[in-house]
Amino acid sequence: MKRVALVVSLIALAAPVMSQAAAPAGSLDNGKLVYEKWCLPCHGSRVDTGFPGTSNALYPGAAALAVKYKGTQPPLLTDRTNLTAELVKTVVRNGISAMPRSRKTEINDAELGDIAAYLTQKKPKSK
Ligand code: HEC
Repeated sequence: MKRVALVVSLIALAAPVMSQAAAPAGSLDNGKLVYEKWCLPCHGSRVDTGFPGTSNALYPGAAALAVKYKGTQPPLLTDRTNLTAELVKTVVRNGISAMPRSRKTEINDAELGDIAAYLTQKKPKSK
C-alpha cells in the first residue's frame, strides 16, 4: 500500500514537468506573444493616428537604444539582426541600465527561450 502511494505521488510530481517538456522548444509564435506582453510596452513605438495629442514616439526602451546606438542600430529590437539568444537571456534575467530584470515566475525559461528565438530569427521580422 505504501508503495502504491509512493508511485502515485511520484506521478503527480512528474506530471507538470512532463507537460512542460512536451511544449515545442523555441516557438516563434509564443515568443511573439510573450514579447508583446512583457517587452513591447517599453521596446515598441507609438504610431501617429492623426488624433490630437498623438505623434510618432519611441517607448522608453526603444528611445534608450536610439540614444545608445545613435542610428547605427534600429531602435526596435524586432528590427535588429545582430542580437544573440545569449544576450537577450542575460539582459532579461539581469536587467540593464533602466531595464528591470524579469523573474522566472514572470517569464519562465521556456518563454524566455521563445522570446530569444523570436528576436534572433533570420527571416524578415513582422512588426
Ligand atoms: C521598463 C522598460 C523595459 C522593459 C519592460 C523591457 N526593457 Fe529591454 N531595455 C529597456 C531599456 C531602457 C534598455 C536600454 C538600456 C541601456 O541604455 O543600455 C533596454 C535594453 C534591452 C536590450 C539590450 C539591447 C542592446 O543592444 O543593448 C535587450 C536585448 C532588451 N532590452 C530586451 C528586452 C526584452 C526581451 C524584454 C521583455 C522580456 C525587455 N527588454 C523589456 C527597457 C525595458
